[in-house]
Amino acid sequence: PMEVKKIACIGAGYVGGPTMSVIAQKNPDLQVTVVDLNAERIAAWNNQDVSKLPIYEPGLGAVVEEARGRNLFFSTDVERAIVEADMIFISVNTPTKTYGKGKGQAADLKFIELCARQIAAISTTDKIVVEKSTLPVRTAETLKSILDNTGNGVNFHILSNPEFLAEGTAIADLHAPDRVLIGGENTEAINALVQVYASWVPRERILTTNLWSSELSKLVANAFLAQRVSSINAISELCEVTGANVDEVAHAIGQDSRIGSKFLKASVGFGGSCFQKDILNLVYIARSYHLHKVADYWEQVVLLNDHQKTRFAEKIINTMYNTVNGKQIAFLGWAFKKDTNDTRESAAIYVADHLLDEQANIIVYDPQVTAEQIYKDLDGLGSRPPAQNRALLTVVSDPYQALSGVHAVAVLTEWDEFKTYDWSLIKQNMKRPAFVFDGRKLLHGATLQTLGFTYYAIGE
Ligand code: NAD
Ligand code: UDX
Repeated sequence: PMEVKKIACIGAGYVGGPTMSVIAQKNPDLQVTVVDLNAERIAAWNNQDVSKLPIYEPGLGAVVEEARGRNLFFSTDVERAIVEADMIFISVNTPTKTYGKGKGQAADLKFIELCARQIAAISTTDKIVVEKSTLPVRTAETLKSILDNTGNGVNFHILSNPEFLAEGTAIADLHAPDRVLIGGENTEAINALVQVYASWVPRERILTTNLWSSELSKLVANAFLAQRVSSINAISELCEVTGANVDEVAHAIGQDSRIGSKFLKASVGFGGSCFQKDILNLVYIARSYHLHKVADYWEQVVLLNDHQKTRFAEKIINTMYNTVNGKQIAFLGWAFKKDTNDTRESAAIYVADHLLDEQANIIVYDPQVTAEQIYKDLDGLGSRPPAQNRALLTVVSDPYQALSGVHAVAVLTEWDEFKTYDWSLIKQNMKRPAFVFDGRKLLHGATLQTLGFTYYAIGE
């Protein structure tokens, strides 16, 4: 059997960092080295103060403290980690292409290809190469072609091992995954990776498939999850005009065990680095095989999500007498969901952009997101000069400061702490009528109405 003693992981991001930390925690006999080109990120992973790790994730600090320096290492020495490893995880980013063929839809695989070429160029011993990044179906074929044609005659076995963790619950998800999926052709290589997970994951939860099923299952899992959110969000709009309440509808249908109760929370729209990117990639792949009906079906999930974000911004404007020009609107939350500092594709960015187009003044408070990140997100849209973003939008570190003197509050992220605020005090310090737009159905609407707020929630 193939023996794995040293693991390397290329990419120390939201997936590579937590995943490898847990693999190292649960396999003290394996040496795990996570490498990245981004020296600042690696330095943060090595920070002795685990509250300064580059990503915020409940429980991560304790896992890193347990394993780091024992059998878990973070380094910028990519070459050395590759040369020494028996098994190499590729966990680099695979964003939507922003140029050329497939622009706006296809996955950009340049970082993946660079990894493969680097592995091929410098490896002197056999390696198991594991796709951890989310990739288009049949990418393993490309990897194999690069590895086998530019290598030094060493054997490469390619496995697909997509990651299903969700941000904010990454450590809990990694400790007790619903399933681990491993796709491959070579039984010994598959077994070597099964052994790594079997240290803590019950064997019946480790599924093995062929390469293409594994690659495709990741895109399909995210498409199905996002589809549930868009489905309930579509119904939320219908609830608003019919007097039905979307939470009651979600509960009623969720009791049907065939439908299930999870992932039916209506919201201002899904965000995050995965859902939109992976569905658009699925759409692109379907179209590339001329499956236009299939592509149109899945594309609608993203279109509905865009509509939901726009609809929320327009609801704010319409309710505030059709103008928000010069009005102050406080944003509670900027992250794409609670318990993460990740803002990629967060609905807050698009809602803010829409309101800034109407010349609103926005004051943002998020417990984990930095001002620097918020401006970067807005500047990245290119809707207006950076100076104007800074003139119209301010970021504060105290929620009561954000809420003082404003015309309206919009809840964009479902952080638990927002529920514990002194809403009676907030009401006193706001302009009248005091509007609350709850994009997460987080607050207790009846209580806020009793306090005198004009309360709007998605789907009510
Ligand atoms: P990320 O951007 O947080 O991290 C990727 C890291 O790879 C970056 O730090 C980057 O500097 C590094 N990198 C890129 N090219 C490199 C190279 N050639 N050598 C060394 N380092 C390099 O991305 P992420 O969120 O961790 O996602 C990684 C992959 O995992 C993506 O394919 C994503 O779709 C998938 N995924 C993400 C999640 C999630 O919740 N974020 C969940 C499941 C799957
Ligand atoms: C997702 C998948 O859940 C995970 O399995 C995959 O590995 C990566 O992509 P993530 O994007 O981190 O994880 O978070 P998730 O909990 O799925 O939430 C995604 C978005 O959907 C968030 O903006 C969230 O607020 C929103 N959402 C989720 C809803 O609006 N309603 C819901 O019921 C669930």
